[in-house]
Amino acid sequence: MDAITPGRVLVASNRGPVSFSRTGDGRLTARRGGGGMVSGLSSVAGQAEVLWVCAALSDADRAAAGAAPGGYLEDGGGGTGSAVRMLDIPAATFDRAYNGVANSTLWFIHHMLYDTPNQPHFGLAFRREWESFRAYNAAFAAALADGADGAGPPGPDGSGPRRPVRAMVQDYHLTLVPRMLADLRPDVAIGYFCHTPWAPPDYFAILPDDIAREVLDGILGADHAGFQTQRWADAFLDCCQQILGAEVDRGGRAVHYRGRTTTVGVHPLGVDAHELRERAAAADVQAQVEALTATAAGRKLIVRVDRTELSKNIVRGLAAYRELLITYPQWRGRVTHLAFAYPSRHDLPEYREYTASVQRLAREILDEFGTEDWNPLVLQVNDDYPRSLAAYRLADVLLVNPIRDGMNLVAKEGPLLSERGCALVLSREAGAAAELGEAALLVNPYDVSGTAQALHEALDMPAAERQRRCGMLAKAGSAVSPHDWFADQLSALDEAARRAHGPANPAGR
Ligand code: G6P
Repeated sequence: MDAITPGRVLVASNRGPVSFSRTGDGRLTARRGGGGMVSGLSSVAGQAEVLWVCAALSDADRAAAGAAPGGYLEDGGGGTGSAVRMLDIPAATFDRAYNGVANSTLWFIHHMLYDTPNQPHFGLAFRREWESFRAYNAAFAAALADGADGAGPPGPDGSGPRRPVRAMVQDYHLTLVPRMLADLRPDVAIGYFCHTPWAPPDYFAILPDDIAREVLDGILGADHAGFQTQRWADAFLDCCQQILGAEVDRGGRAVHYRGRTTTVGVHPLGVDAHELRERAAAADVQAQVEALTATAAGRKLIVRVDRTELSKNIVRGLAAYRELLITYPQWRGRVTHLAFAYPSRHDLPEYREYTASVQRLAREILDEFGTEDWNPLVLQVNDDYPRSLAAYRLADVLLVNPIRDGMNLVAKEGPLLSERGCALVLSREAGAAAELGEAALLVNPYDVSGTAQALHEALDMPAAERQRRCGMLAKAGSAVSPHDWFADQLSALDEAARRAHGPANPAGR
């Protein structure tokens, strides 16, 4: 485990490490969030002083933030070990920034999801959304500047914040924050991490020119920008060069623009094998293993676990399963597909329609192939984490076929837990393909017949070969723990700030 340079670390992300809800008697209870970023941060919190700035996402979050002294929740209220400041952004501003720009525009651009004859349509309504996006980003930048100034819980000796102060800004929601924060606080070292893919310049240029430039310029306010894979980092560099006209140093992996240098690095997020295996051994998961074993009744299991997200390509995944049963009828009655697709972003009509398409196709498959004693498909649309872990444990084949994905941690988690050694059918457009491609069966996510063929090969793969590949997948998927992923970014940021500002001041300026 890499050591962290002590000091103050400010983290900013739209969704924070903790969320609140009301119990029956009206009390507020905190729940720690999941995901790599929370576990990476929690392990850093012991070594550096961490303040996490996020948005209040519900009325209960707003109430908890309002009741906290100075707006700072100590220890995150949920055992993350970091102080948390939840920003109460006006509802209409938040809706336009989060749903209108972040999820309906930037997410669609980076995942190349537009049905371009009809969308996008950048008119007056979009300009209004963009103004809200700026205001929402400005609220984060101001809160980070406050945090750098020592607002919030004091350091352990009761003094102000420890030096150096580093801000780690996360994801497409906050793309304008690095530049805004650099303007407010030139003494803070700023890192940015992109969790999504990055679009190639021709697709990125769908954005109005001024906004495309503002997004890139926003990130170039950072000293260091990190990406999940080389491919996304290269796409970002291409956009900086072609759209912004910035000077790109490919060898030195840096962009020079407006008198500032931003280094660009690749920091792939992996899984904490120990933490995941421990969780998957708990009694609630074991109970689900027994239930799913009864469902499978000795048949092979093809498993998928996703949010019902347009980029996850669930409809083509089901279509590929249907083709498998048509093209290779020998599998009928011998395989069951567990498709766990839990709800996501239901404020957006496209997501509601997509969920309906998934359910429609699932019903068609059941009608077409189901028999008295064989259920070919189990589609579950409610989120049940223990059940997902149980499915990983039992999978013979794991299907991960996104149209495009920053990384995809399902592809890394499944093989770590698989008891029989699962085969992985993986989209070549997932960031994870860069690390797992050798041991997985790679597919073109648009090629339904090719995916059906890969499912057949996966089911047909000799057990020893499957186990060998699964061992390689588990090793590669846990090579970089969330702690190391975060520590690696912090040291890249320290190095970038040192190069820019001299050794006397390792991270701050
Ligand atoms: C996925 C992406 C992240 C993103 C998150 C937002 O997990 O990989 O890059 O930040 O979705 O999801 P939310 O539910 O907060 O909109």
